[in-house]
Amino acid sequence: MSRIVKGRLLSFRDAPRHGGGYDYIENGALRIENGLIAEIGEARDVLSRAPEGTPVDDHSGRLILPGFVDAHIHYPQTRVIGSYGTQLLEWLQKYTFVEEQKFSDPAHAAVVARFFLDELFRQGTTTAVVYCTVAPESAEAFFAEAERRGARMIAGKVMMDRNAPPALTDDPQRGYDESKALLLKWHGRGRLGYAITPRFAITSSPAQLEAAGALRQEFPDTHVQTHLSENHAEIALTKSLYPQARDYLDVYERAGLVGPKSVFGHCIHLEPREIEALSRLRGVAAFCPTSNLFLGSGLFDEAGLDKAGVRVALATDVGGGTSYSLLQTANEAYKVLQMRGQSWPAFQAFYQLTLGNARALGLEDRIGALAPGREADLVVLDARGTPAMAHRMESVRRDLAEELFVLMTMGDDRAVAQTYVGGERAKT
Ligand code: GUN
Ligand code: ZN
Repeated sequence: MSRIVKGRLLSFRDAPRHGGGYDYIENGALRIENGLIAEIGEARDVLSRAPEGTPVDDHSGRLILPGFVDAHIHYPQTRVIGSYGTQLLEWLQKYTFVEEQKFSDPAHAAVVARFFLDELFRQGTTTAVVYCTVAPESAEAFFAEAERRGARMIAGKVMMDRNAPPALTDDPQRGYDESKALLLKWHGRGRLGYAITPRFAITSSPAQLEAAGALRQEFPDTHVQTHLSENHAEIALTKSLYPQARDYLDVYERAGLVGPKSVFGHCIHLEPREIEALSRLRGVAAFCPTSNLFLGSGLFDEAGLDKAGVRVALATDVGGGTSYSLLQTANEAYKVLQMRGQSWPAFQAFYQLTLGNARALGLEDRIGALAPGREADLVVLDARGTPAMAHRMESVRRDLAEELFVLMTMGDDRAVAQTYVGGERAKT
């Protein structure tokens, strides 16, 4: 299948904050062949070289970027998003652990997986790192649906063997066996990857974390995902459950779970040793601003972690997070950083949503940039997507940074004109 997609192409080469540049082609076009970007350039050149009759999607005037990447999200929480009034530990017990019990039913899991992927694509998100539930059926349903759509997705069955309802717990051996079976079936199949997913220290015994670490050693090219240092009560309880650990991160270090493919949700209240170790071991801190505000967890220190050499990603964390939109997530990130006196220019934000997050996941050779050979996952953005945005844009004159900032402050799914997944139109 071949197709040409025309529009204003924007792709980053490196982090703007570190002096990295970007490529921008005002009248650009991409030619897509078999799900990959085959050619990119000035529209007139790409069109003139294309075989006669190649279909053209004309998005002239709209921005085309690599599809957005969400580094941390829970697909079984689509029906708890926006649940009132609690902070993390009570929120988990009162809402999340109730909802997640429904996912041992494959039919329910399939319905929610379909909704979830529709919603991600509507928002321009083409890759995500996804928590399922403890039920293997939940991961089966998610992987099957992602495979059907040809999407690049990373996911894993949650491992939990304590401090959760009996219906939501496995045990160290079962968690290991079920995770391994899913990993062997799905990891590397099409564009799917497996993430070993011990939920967090509170819901895993030391034996379970060891089992997760053993699995990571056996399969070093899988991801690991868990939560770290999100909330003061969570940190205190973790320390009481793991008295031998030097700090929260050390719980995971001792189990061999910290490395370049490990994504740690939140990382808000880290101690200096944890920051140093996270940097040295190349772990990734996932900044989840809408969740951190909604659950009252705290303000992420983006500049401090970046300065310390910690790899940072941006994520929605739905359903603790309140929006599937990575544009809105960038909006809230900007405000969190305002509260900390930190700057976060629009170019840095859009770098993070694309190449930055792809790098954080070690996927930069596949996704995150518009270049020949990369997978054709694209988002087409319209900075005039709502009446208020169109009105605001009347005072923006050919200034890309300003247009991007309007997109991230005022934009959401209404600013996403189209999404392409593996070269196919995906926004419904
Ligand atoms: N910590 C452990 N589980 C969760 C979860 O589902 N959401 C958030 N925000 N934090 C967690
Ligand atoms: Zn989370």
